Amino acid sequence: MDEDVSEAVLVEKNLSPSIGETDLVDKNHSAYQEEAVLEDKTKDNQKSGEEQQFTFCDFHDESQLKVLQSLIDKELSEPYSIYTYRYFVYNWPDLCFFALDGDRYVGVIVCKMEETMEGVQMGYIAMLAVEVEYRKRGIGKALSEMAIETMAMKDAAMISLETELTNKPALALYQSLGFIRERRLLRYYMNGVDAFRLKLVLHDSSMLPLSED
Ligand SMILES: CC(C)(COP(=O)(O)OP(=O)(O)OC[C@H]1O[C@@H](n2cnc3c(N)ncnc32)[C@H](O)[C@@H]1OP(=O)(O)O)[C@@H](O)C(=O)NCCC(=O)NCCS
Repeated sequence: MDEDVSEAVLVEKNLSPSIGETDLVDKNHSAYQEEAVLEDKTKDNQKSGEEQQFTFCDFHDESQLKVLQSLIDKELSEPYSIYTYRYFVYNWPDLCFFALDGDRYVGVIVCKMEETMEGVQMGYIAMLAVEVEYRKRGIGKALSEMAIETMAMKDAAMISLETELTNKPALALYQSLGFIRERRLLRYYMNGVDAFRLKLVLHDSSMLPLSED
């Protein structure tokens, strides 16, 4: 499995990486370790003069499945089955990124990319979560930017996702990354809450599919 993992390494240039400001280096078939660094500049840390650094890695080890499950399950009203997690991480290991504080996993993003019948590459963000006590420090944004940049490098024409209508942090995060609201999906979730489908168009394509809902 390790042999097939496509590995991406973000080399830090700025405190808060954003698209176009980080170099993404393809390091296929090399032993992957945590590589990207995000310095935590929260007020508390500034006050104490400490600088906390977060690191990032992609999926490269079966043992990370349990971590992934525990990070995501606590955010869901209906837990996913292990097969759902496996479907994503084994098909698109290079589109699953973790954030770490030391050796503690504190955030994750899980994505996939598929080709339409017209041959257009479509990206999809399936899951994103940051541990409660690590939120508002730029981790969610950094993970999203890594995923977007990786999918852009793989020639995704568009990236989409769904999020609860009531999820203000997620809506604000994705809006700050350029996602726009494509449509409202009525009672999309098991808890009866509506969703917004968001999309980020990466390059113009007359072949982009229209939403089916
Ligand atoms: C959504 C989530 C991943 C954001 O992670 P995070 O690490 O806290 O986000 P960041 O610190 O990177 O914030 C980036 C931007 O998102 C927005 N944002 C994040 N948290 C916010 C909040 N509580 N209220 C309003 N905006 C918020 C802001 O625009 C922020 O930029 P700013 O700090 O410059 O204002 C996190 O809240 C989470 O894990 N929520 C539960 C799971 C979930 O909802 N996942 C998304 C499903 S689609």
